[in-house]
Amino acid sequence: MKRIVSTEGAYLFDEDGNRVLDAISSWWVITHGHRHPVIMRAIREATETYDQVIFAEYSHEPAECLAEGLLAVAPTGLKHVFFSDSGSTSVEVALKMALGYFHNIGETRDRIVVMEHGYHGDTIGTMSAGERGVFNAAYAPLLFGVDRVPFPKQGLEKQTLDAFETACGTGRVAAILLEPLVLGAGGMLTYAPDVLTAIRQIADRAGCLVITDEVMTGWGRTGTMFACEQAGLLPDILCTSKGLTGGALPLAATLCTSEIFDAHLSTDRRKTFFHFSSYTANPIACAAGVANLEVWKNEDVAARIKTMELYHRTSLQRFEGDERFSAVRQAGTIAALDLNVTASGYLADVGPRMRKLFRERGLLIRPLGNVIYMMPPYCVTPSELATTYDAIDEVASIILGRS
Ligand SMILES: Cc1ncc(COP(=O)(O)O)c(C=O)c1O
Repeated sequence: MKRIVSTEGAYLFDEDGNRVLDAISSWWVITHGHRHPVIMRAIREATETYDQVIFAEYSHEPAECLAEGLLAVAPTGLKHVFFSDSGSTSVEVALKMALGYFHNIGETRDRIVVMEHGYHGDTIGTMSAGERGVFNAAYAPLLFGVDRVPFPKQGLEKQTLDAFETACGTGRVAAILLEPLVLGAGGMLTYAPDVLTAIRQIADRAGCLVITDEVMTGWGRTGTMFACEQAGLLPDILCTSKGLTGGALPLAATLCTSEIFDAHLSTDRRKTFFHFSSYTANPIACAAGVANLEVWKNEDVAARIKTMELYHRTSLQRFEGDERFSAVRQAGTIAALDLNVTASGYLADVGPRMRKLFRERGLLIRPLGNVIYMMPPYCVTPSELATTYDAIDEVASIILGRS
């Protein structure tokens, strides 16, 4: 364990004076770069006026401004924002909104459909919705049942769609919860936008809701502001966190349609959306969120994303057909490939071994088992990216005993 003493741009600086390239954006949160000056200034200024303020009965400008700005960049149809404080809570809120909606309109729909290999967080509800395995086996007695559809592997997409259609056949499905285009913690698994388009159509026919968990994919990671845009998918509920403040402070939001909001708006207080959290809409975090929107508006973030996309595309080519690797893939600014080893699960020691070798080369890269991936902040330069590609080449050869 190393102590980090400061951060700047694409780098972490440790207590021994080492500079570490943060090639995974500190668990996918830092979008523009560490300590972006516009965001840092907004935080400093907000602390002159605010600390935490109750977010019931009272409101404040940073939250209102952020909600407005967020809806302006979100997919059409999303009209309301519910703030919380982490990706997990944004998904918990989404699940409660979906069930609350059907409860309040008097329709019996109590099933949630999820995708195999999904990850939505580490709270009880999100673990229930996520892939079951070593991470949550001990807590199985607390987890609730969901309906799972297979991951839409290339060429097998129909199986996913058929399974969803079958699940919907019961008439009990309230919502399908998905990570659009890329399943992050499940191994950076990518799938085609068409699948999302078809899922939306099935959901519409069946009268159930679509929840997109854009906690990881949001804020440009897959090349567009939100991944669902690439499928023209208009979700009923969208979860966002991580890049919402450029990664500087913890904050999350769950966006929903007017239909869902209205179903919870009633003089009958039993229809209230019951979810409260002490730090909801923390003004300083909201000010960071507003500043993040300013960065998107005033800087050419899209151009940085395009440059990174292009760089990944050309650099990954060197590993295509390389027998050390398989499943070389990319989704926007995310690049991933599997190292061909026999013991490949998340707990296989190839992961920690690679991590150590990357760290020795000044890189923060944390493979998911044998899956090596990069998701750097957008300020990273092509020459910095080149060092990560060279390191992957070298580390793979060391692990496979070919150096
Ligand atoms: C898709 C997705 N949903 C939810 C979460 C949980 O977010 P948090 O760790 O902020 O609770 C994550 C975290 O990586 C995620 O990738």
